[in-house]
Amino acid sequence: MKDFFGILQRFIPPYKRYLLLNIVFNILSAILNLFSFVLIIPILNLLFKTGTEVYTFTPWQMDPGDWQWWKSLPELAKDNFFYYVSRLIYSHGGSFTLIVLGLFLVGMTFLKVAAMYLSSFTMIPIRTGVVRDIRNQLMNKITRLPLGFFSEERKGDIIARVSGDVNEIETSIMSSLDMLFKNPILIAIYLVGMLLISWRLTLFVFLLLPLAGYLMGKVGKTLKRKSFTGQEQWGYLMSQVEETLGGLRIIKAFNAETKIRNRFYQSNESFRHITGRIYMRQQLAHPMSEFLGTLTIAIILWYGGSLILSSGSTIDASTFIYYLVIFYSLINPAKDLSKATYAIQKGLASMERIDKVLLAETNIKDPEHPQKITLDKQIAYRNVWFKYHNDWVLKGVDLVIPKGQTIALVGQSGSGKSTLVDLLPRFYDVTEGSITLDGTDIRNATLCDLRSLMGNVNQEAILFNDTFFNNIAFGVHNATPAEVEEAARIANAHDFIIASEKGYATPIGDRGGKLSGGQRQRISIARAILKNPPLLILDEATSALDAESERLVQQALENLMRNRTTIIIAHRLSTIRSAGEICVMHEGQIVERGRHEELFRLNGYYRKLCDMQSFQTTPPPGAQCNS
Ligand SMILES: Nc1ncnc2c1ncn2[C@@H]1O[C@H](COP(=O)(O)OP(=O)(O)OP(=O)(O)O)[C@@H](O)[C@H]1O
Ligand SMILES: [Mg+2]
Repeated sequence: MKDFFGILQRFIPPYKRYLLLNIVFNILSAILNLFSFVLIIPILNLLFKTGTEVYTFTPWQMDPGDWQWWKSLPELAKDNFFYYVSRLIYSHGGSFTLIVLGLFLVGMTFLKVAAMYLSSFTMIPIRTGVVRDIRNQLMNKITRLPLGFFSEERKGDIIARVSGDVNEIETSIMSSLDMLFKNPILIAIYLVGMLLISWRLTLFVFLLLPLAGYLMGKVGKTLKRKSFTGQEQWGYLMSQVEETLGGLRIIKAFNAETKIRNRFYQSNESFRHITGRIYMRQQLAHPMSEFLGTLTIAIILWYGGSLILSSGSTIDASTFIYYLVIFYSLINPAKDLSKATYAIQKGLASMERIDKVLLAETNIKDPEHPQKITLDKQIAYRNVWFKYHNDWVLKGVDLVIPKGQTIALVGQSGSGKSTLVDLLPRFYDVTEGSITLDGTDIRNATLCDLRSLMGNVNQEAILFNDTFFNNIAFGVHNATPAEVEEAARIANAHDFIIASEKGYATPIGDRGGKLSGGQRQRISIARAILKNPPLLILDEATSALDAESERLVQQALENLMRNRTTIIIAHRLSTIRSAGEICVMHEGQIVERGRHEELFRLNGYYRKLCDMQSFQTTPPPGAQCNS
């Protein structure tokens, strides 16, 4: 329960106003309910012809000096009410009085249900609002968390948290809020009513309630743990769907449909198993509270009955029936309350999963006192060590890149090239050492300032399901059509864009699915051109291309690299021939550096890479290329 109030404290404050209204309407409806059923007493008395005595009207007066004045109030109210009723019977007859009492009951009930509706009504903004807030917070956090967080998590599982777990919170916690604020109020007011009628009977109820509560609690205990496993399984299912959608091409090509299907069926079956167990427990709440409620009624019937039958009884039969009616009204809220506590257990499990994202630490964040960052002189890696987990991926890299120079990184797959450039925009932070721009450590600048200095073009062009225009203008506020077109021209993308159906307004499909690899690449280059950053990072920007589109992209890139600091990673060594300096990486270290000809002559790692690609080029003077 502590967790539950913690959640309320986190998410309810903006909706305090509605909560207050809700409580007011709940109190109102409980009181109205109590009074609407008071009418049962005279009706029963009429029917059973027991209320023949004529009551006398006592003036409504109270002596403020006597602090116990309220004790006689119910008695007074009852007497006066009966006085009016008996006068009505006397003047208009029994059946007319029944009609009047019936109408009165209808009127009271109308007011009661109206108050009930209003109380649920005020709950709606809270319910929908909190769910919206949680989703927004999740999205906010997802965009803030460092990339490293997501390589640990399954994408589908994160989607399951934003959808399934948030829904679970809505259906279990938020819908229980209504019951949770209403029912204790109802129960309290009914109990007060019962106390006023007969404290002895009510004492019984007080003794029985905690016992019932204890029994219910025992069943609810394992519910949260089970539900947590259930939601985890759901996340697992969702990540399978996500992977399947993303990998359909490969799944079909490798005839792996059956394998994927069976894996899914299996997980789905265990999900069903877990949810089945959860429902079995949850459904127990209702029958159990019903049974315990009836047990209590039976005991009260026995005890109350013997009170009435004994001489010198404090209550008469019709009052006792009224008492039972109130008690019966109490059973439903009590049942709902127990159902709500069960549902809340389920919701808490989901909240725990959501909190794994919401409360995850963002270790890559803005410094408290950010410094201005510029790129006028140079970028410097100083003794940079880095590891993702256990193994060092970069081992003491020292690299200075003067402004305006093009540096190429080459090396075997897995040698740490992408990692090295990922440290620059702080996708990850260095484990040891430092990276500085013009002498300012990149960790001392805001992420926004730092990243606005850079443009990225990756091997996998990352595009959004939007138009050409919006994909190119992605990183720039209010870009004009002329600017976008200019960028597209430089990137050699203009021609195929205007050849498409709606030109720049054509949607490009999910992740650019309607485009060829080279077209996607050129769009992402156009995006970098439009951003016009001082530093350009090209990671395998041309590797996905055939000769013709590579020529186009290469041209586009050369347009882009002109007069700009550029770090370029390429497997195809032909693309980096012209780089000012080539750095050869091997197992996390820069092992060779220099211009193409020098490195070639060295006969070391670079030469080996060249040989493996049967790298054809005009042989540098003095060196023979054995192609
Ligand atoms: N997110 C990650 N979590 C853990 N290890 C990683 C992660 N990304 C890369 N690695 C590991 O770090 C090492 C260097 O990877 P990196 O991507 O920098 O290589 P690369 O030189 O860019 O290779 P390629 O030429 O194939 O792109 C590899 O051994 C890889 O397994
Ligand atoms: Mg790489």
